[in-house]
Amino acid sequence: RRLLGTAGAAGATGLVLGAAGGAAGWAAADAPPTPLTAVGSTAAAFHGARQPGITDPQQAHGHLVAFDLRPGAGRREAAALMRRWSLLASRLMAGERAGEGDTGVALDAGPSSLTVTFGFGRTFFDRTSLTPARPAQLDPLPAFSSDRLDAGRSDGDLWVQIGADDALVAFHALRTLQTAAGEAARVRWQMNGFNRSPGATAKPMTARNLMGQVDGTGNPKPSEPDFRQRVFVPDGTEHAWMAGGSYAVVRRIRMLLDDWEKLPLDRQERVIGRRKSDGAPLTGGTETTEPDLDATGPDGKPVIAADAHARISAPEQNGGAAMLRRPFSYHDGIAADGTPDAGLLFVCWQADPLRGFVPVQRKLDRGDALSPFIRHEASGLFAVPGGAGEGEYVGQALLE
Ligand code: HEM
Repeated sequence: RRLLGTAGAAGATGLVLGAAGGAAGWAAADAPPTPLTAVGSTAAAFHGARQPGITDPQQAHGHLVAFDLRPGAGRREAAALMRRWSLLASRLMAGERAGEGDTGVALDAGPSSLTVTFGFGRTFFDRTSLTPARPAQLDPLPAFSSDRLDAGRSDGDLWVQIGADDALVAFHALRTLQTAAGEAARVRWQMNGFNRSPGATAKPMTARNLMGQVDGTGNPKPSEPDFRQRVFVPDGTEHAWMAGGSYAVVRRIRMLLDDWEKLPLDRQERVIGRRKSDGAPLTGGTETTEPDLDATGPDGKPVIAADAHARISAPEQNGGAAMLRRPFSYHDGIAADGTPDAGLLFVCWQADPLRGFVPVQRKLDRGDALSPFIRHEASGLFAVPGGAGEGEYVGQALLE
């Protein structure tokens, strides 16, 4: 099982192309060649204390899909659905067929790092008569002044996040789960995303987004002592069924790429406070060097601007508020106005949204330097319970 932050093993093709292209050839020496089949054969575990798809490396292909329970479906139907879905997810993540009637779309491929993650939205609890079990953390997110949210592509009773390093494997999982929803639930919205393919770079690197920035550097790291506390709900929490779980905030954030790409490089770098080439802070060093937020230039002004995105969102500027950002990029073609319908399917994970996304977005919403170049178009908040043990299903402690 790979760890977050270390992209998949560099595939042989990537190394050869990198070396031939010159620019990336330098890294070939410290990254031993691995067989191409590594991409297909890598598997994440479905069963365990935590659900998959949170600390696993970002996959090349993703689907986010929300379902609403159908009228008349309640707690019993929801429990049966979670049991069906959990069994299917465990099979597919192991690279097995879904069972009778498998469509065959993923035949020939290995697990390809498939992860399937399940969450419950606020409305799920009323529909299943479980309102007393709903944590306060699922209270609606505040409205932000810059929100341009499409209600039809926001929220939902149930949320499923699918990621895989093969597009057919990801699609197969999506289609299998959708079909298995049967009479219990129907799709409310669905979004498709992507990230860099493993093996595309000569060594594992932090991903880039569609603005070209290195994106994910400041994330909490599993090796840090407060990682668990920041990302996962502790044991002894008021609603015991959420112990070991996490809260996912999902935002579809459009990038106004035509405007962004007109900015010269130095202006783009000032917007974030980091270099575009390697993600290093403008105060110097490498990608992993801590930014010096107090440093001033010869003109007496801060080197990392007062409204730089990375300054405003930094935990030390927000009373320690932190989240694990694990997004997918998206591109849904060209909008009616001729601009790309592209951006970030921003997914962030935290033990409590009020100590993660909410305070940070409140500050960004007052107008950081990135705000003029993005638009939040859809939103969701989901309680993602801990993982299922062998023979169990996700959400069993809530639904039984
Ligand atoms: C940092 C881009 C939206 C929270 C960064 C960085 C980039 C970036 C390039 C610096 C590198 C890094 O640490 O990852 C973007 C883009 C966005 C976006 C393109 C929208 C399309 C958001 C939103 C939030 C957020 C909505 C949360 C409300 C953060 C945090 C950091 C960060 C917490 C790390 C700060 C640190 O640890 O010092 N973002 N971001 N970002 N961003 Fe964003």
